[in-house]
Order: sequence, then structure tokens, then C-alpha cells
Amino acid sequence: MKAIKCHEYGSTEVLQLSDVEKPSYKSNEVLIRNYATTVTAADTMMRKGKPYIGRLYLGLSRPNKAILGFEFAGEIVEIGKDVSLFKIGDKVFGGTTTLGCYAEYVSVSEEGLLITMPNNTSYEEACPVSGSGVTVLNYLKVLGKVKKGDKVLINGASGGLGTYAVQFAKHVGAEVTGVCSTANTAMVKSLGAHKVIDYTMEDFTKGGQLYNIIFDTVGKRSFSDCKKALTSHGVYLSPIINFQLFLHTILSLIAGSKKVKFSFTGMVAVKERLAHFIELKELLATGKIKTVVGKQYSLSQIGEAHTYVETGHKKGNVVIVV
Ligand SMILES: NC(=O)c1ccc[n+]([C@@H]2O[C@H](COP(=O)([O-])OP(=O)(O)OC[C@H]3O[C@@H](n4cnc5c(N)ncnc54)[C@H](OP(=O)(O)O)[C@@H]3O)[C@@H](O)[C@H]2O)c1
Repeated sequence: MKAIKCHEYGSTEVLQLSDVEKPSYKSNEVLIRNYATTVTAADTMMRKGKPYIGRLYLGLSRPNKAILGFEFAGEIVEIGKDVSLFKIGDKVFGGTTTLGCYAEYVSVSEEGLLITMPNNTSYEEACPVSGSGVTVLNYLKVLGKVKKGDKVLINGASGGLGTYAVQFAKHVGAEVTGVCSTANTAMVKSLGAHKVIDYTMEDFTKGGQLYNIIFDTVGKRSFSDCKKALTSHGVYLSPIINFQLFLHTILSLIAGSKKVKFSFTGMVAVKERLAHFIELKELLATGKIKTVVGKQYSLSQIGEAHTYVETGHKKGNVVIVV
């Protein structure tokens, strides 16, 4: 099968289109002909092996797993002898923390983050849901406890997390403000944001408006910046860990009514992530949310996709058509 291999850390040239063996599968696993995967900021960090601390997990001098990619959408072509939840021919989508999705075939456990696709969704629209979509529910539902009537601000509203976050907060009945650059204001409005702030013209922390939840999906504004724009029991959420965020998370556990929360979604129990994933499938099926695919590339163009994601200005999700 065709796959993109990454044998060393470095620039996009380390991503090589190669012929490799199809993955084997165990008795409780399914083999999927993969039609779409994603490139995210996490993928570019794994390719570079930066920050260096990540190499403790990824491999000290070179990647332990040569085929990157967390998300897939495709069709089951073979099943292990003990598989009971799926059958050959099922169209499925999901994610795996063991990577391997920059490839034509992927094998995953039937008990992992794997479900059948809604009929109204393409492979390209399906594949980002298990990562960006599930992260948004982990943040807004579990950490932020978002509810009807909350005033919610989404910073980075035009990105992979942001586009799902605007729609999910709107769906639960929150009053949503999206923050993005000039070029994306119309798109964010079209996703249902009640108000859109162009960060190149206005600083949302200085507008005098108070929010129950500020979800900084892109980690561009610190808790210190946002504190004055939170209600007395408001919550600041950010998915990008750094020393300052770590410190504020700990301190806010001990003192103060305004809270700071962080989570590595990939480390949340599969059962919990699966529940979010199933909820998102229903929202896709009923048209309550949609996936924004900003750009798509072929497998052989994956280097270009990484370069685009590294600009830090990707629109929605970046999809690789396999
Ligand atoms: N903790 C977790 O479990 C977890 C899980 C998934 C993802 N993440 C992390 O979450 C982050 C977000 O990922 P992503 O895929 O949504 O997007 P991304 O690729 O990191 O960022 C793209 C978006 O950032 C926006 N942006 C850039 N500068 C901005 C600024 N100064 N103010 C507001 N927005 C700005 C861009 O909008 P404009 O073009 O309009 O500027 C663009 O839409 C990544 O760092 C990822 O690694 C963490």
C-alpha cells in the first residue's frame, strides 16, 4: 500500500511517499481502507520532534512510528475473528493514538474510537471529528460545563477546534462570540456566532463584555489577559499547555472564583471520548453541526499541507484525500 513515512525529524522533506506492507490486524481489530486523514498542528510538531520533551514519547533520535496521522475515515475491508460490532463494508470514521493514518490501510480495535459514519457526511468531512470535534466537547461540556444562556467567547473561531466550538456552543443555547481575523469573519458568522470580533481591529479583553467561558482554542491570549473579561465564576479554557497555563491551572484550583482548565484529550478514557464522538455523529447527521474543510491535499502533497498548517492560519480543518 501507499503510505507517507517519516524516518527522521525535520522539515517537510522527511515526509516520503513509500510502498509498505498493509498493516496486520488482531482478532479484535478491523482493517480499514482509509480514504481521508487530517494534518493538524500536533502532526507538524511530531514531524519536527519539537518541543524536544515530546521525543521522550515519540523516540529520542528518530520517530518510533514512521507513519504519522491520528484520524481516518474509510470502509472496513477485513475483520478479525472476534469482531462483533462491525462488518465488512461498513463506512467508519475514528481516531487512534497509535498513529498510522497517513496510509491507504489502517487497523484499529473495534473497542477504540471507531463508529459508523452518518449517511450525509463525506469521508473528508468525517475524518476531523474524532480529534478536533471530540476535543471541543471535552473542553466545552466537561471542563467548561457550558449551558443554555452562557456567554461564551471562542478565540481562534476559524480554526479546526474553533469552527466546531462555535457551532456546539450555539447548539446548547449559549450566546456565542467568535474571534478571528478579517478574512474569516463572514465564515464564523455563518457558523452561527451571534457576534464576531476581528482581532486585528479590536481586543476582546478590553471591550467591557463579560463571558462565562473563554475558550482560547489557539492559546494566543493568557488567563492574565482574559481574567478581566470573565464573570466572577467564569472559566478560562486553553488546549495548549505551557508553564504559565500549568501554574494558573494549579493556582486556580486553590484560590479565586475564576477557574483555569486544561486537558490532554488523547488521555481521556476511550469510553468518555466515544460518548462525545457518538453525540457529534448525531449532530452531523441532523445537520446541527458541520465540518469546515478549509483545504484538501492528496497523499503526495502532504508536505504542502504541513507547510500550510505551520502558518498558524489554517481555516477549519486540513484534510488529506488518500
Ligand atoms: N489539548 C488537547 O487535547 C488538544 C487537542 C487538539 C488540538 N489541540 C491544540 O489546539 C490548537 C488549535 O488547533 P486548531 O486545529 O484549532 O488550529 P491551529 O492550526 O492551531 O490554528 C489555526 C487558527 O488560529 C487562528 N489564529 C491565529 N492567530 C490568531 C490570533 N492572534 N487570535 C485568534 N486566532 C488566531 C487562525 O485564524 P485566522 O487565520 O483568522 O487568524 C486559524 O484559524 C493546536 O495547537 C492543537 O495542537 C490540543
